[in-house]
Amino acid sequence: MSDDTPAAPSTREGPADRATTPPMPPESAQRIDSSTAAPAPLKPPSPGIHSSNFRFPAGFLWGSATSAHQVEGNCTNNDWWQWEQAGKVSERSGLACDHYRRFREDFDLARELGHNAHRFSIEWSRIEPEEGTFSVEAIVHYREVLEALKERGIEPIVTLHHYTLPRWLADQGGWENPEIVKWFERYVTRMVAEYGDLVCWWITLNEPVVHVFKSYIIGQWPPGKRDYPAAFRVLRYMLRAHVLAYRAIHERRPDARVSVAQHCLALTPCDPRSWLDRASVRVRSYLFNELFLDALHSGTLRVPGRFWERLAPHGTLDFIGVNYYTRDFVKNTGINLPGFIGNLCTIDHHQSVGKRNDLGWEVYPEGLARFLESLRRMKLPILITENGVPASRDIDRWVFIFMHLWQVARALEEEIPVVGYLYWSLLDNYEWADGFTPRFGLIAVDYATQERVVRDSARNFAEILKRNEL
Ligand code: FCB
Repeated sequence: MSDDTPAAPSTREGPADRATTPPMPPESAQRIDSSTAAPAPLKPPSPGIHSSNFRFPAGFLWGSATSAHQVEGNCTNNDWWQWEQAGKVSERSGLACDHYRRFREDFDLARELGHNAHRFSIEWSRIEPEEGTFSVEAIVHYREVLEALKERGIEPIVTLHHYTLPRWLADQGGWENPEIVKWFERYVTRMVAEYGDLVCWWITLNEPVVHVFKSYIIGQWPPGKRDYPAAFRVLRYMLRAHVLAYRAIHERRPDARVSVAQHCLALTPCDPRSWLDRASVRVRSYLFNELFLDALHSGTLRVPGRFWERLAPHGTLDFIGVNYYTRDFVKNTGINLPGFIGNLCTIDHHQSVGKRNDLGWEVYPEGLARFLESLRRMKLPILITENGVPASRDIDRWVFIFMHLWQVARALEEEIPVVGYLYWSLLDNYEWADGFTPRFGLIAVDYATQERVVRDSARNFAEILKRNEL
């Protein structure tokens, strides 16, 4: 995500002549060895049989993702709501998609579109509106949400924390307060006690490193700090919180599958000939993409020259949740830590490289393939927990989906254990500091009327899901 790059105007469109036509489905997803003797004669395809297409494994999880604050509406009791009311962002979330009341009709659409999985987040501030007090109404609500998914044959994937914190907790220092680890454990223990019978797949934290970066390094999200020591402290508390949550979930539900959703950001040196730019890419890649997962996978946090901590005697990930969107170019700015973290290049500087979406992020499907390849080292199933595009032209969304699924198919051919793909997002929604302008949804939302319109890209995606082939 282009965090510190000035956002491009949201109406920005890519050059009209590029990628306006969806690529045709591949002739074959099998590798063809051109050195073999005479090619076999082509057989005419049997009607209705797509024998030359790539088949996904049986039971592959197909669906989309949302998060509470971005779709539910009126999440009035969390730190993000406060941030919005304080005028820190140009648009407020307000009623958002009114999904808190309309979830059933939204899930009807997901089912019609062939989804068999859905990722959503529980809003902690609704569940525990005051310290230590749990809301029966909210607990009943999320049970209804889970039952609605189950009734439609949709497997729930539950995120326990997607950026927002209850106000009472934010008022006591939020993630900077070491007590948060116990508070999080208490909340998660309650959630698994309430929903453990319905939920196997759990995401403890969404994109912890992005959260730390936005909230404690560049100050764009609450609490709006620019404080490296605080950032590292928060990172450690998040790791500890995950470990306790992992144990709490497994105690109650031993067969649960627990992970985090790791934002994977492809990085390239601004000037590939500059060793400093290359070093910055290494530092950023380590801090952004590797540190958190490696610490949880190995049970040990290692930041060379800074700290070392044994978190658990063994790994606390049952699978890897991957959120993938884009690539950034990195420019070194000095030989201290901020300098090695460097800056992101302006989009104009690298304009020629690739197509960019409505938020100015490069469309770079190869990056997904590289992450899948490199995550093979963890020997764990991989679930793509988010992949999506803000696109005012729907054809761009379909091209994006197709190109990324192509990379997933290649990875599966290489026997990388990808178990599912969740598009971000089911609905157009509130995109944090970027407000309502970016349109990520498979389903368009008219915010004035709350009317839903299924986009063509969603129907094309549905064809793939229904056949389970590309
Ligand atoms: C991800 C976030 C999600 C959404 C998408 C566009 O980084 O997890 O909430 O904002 O980006």
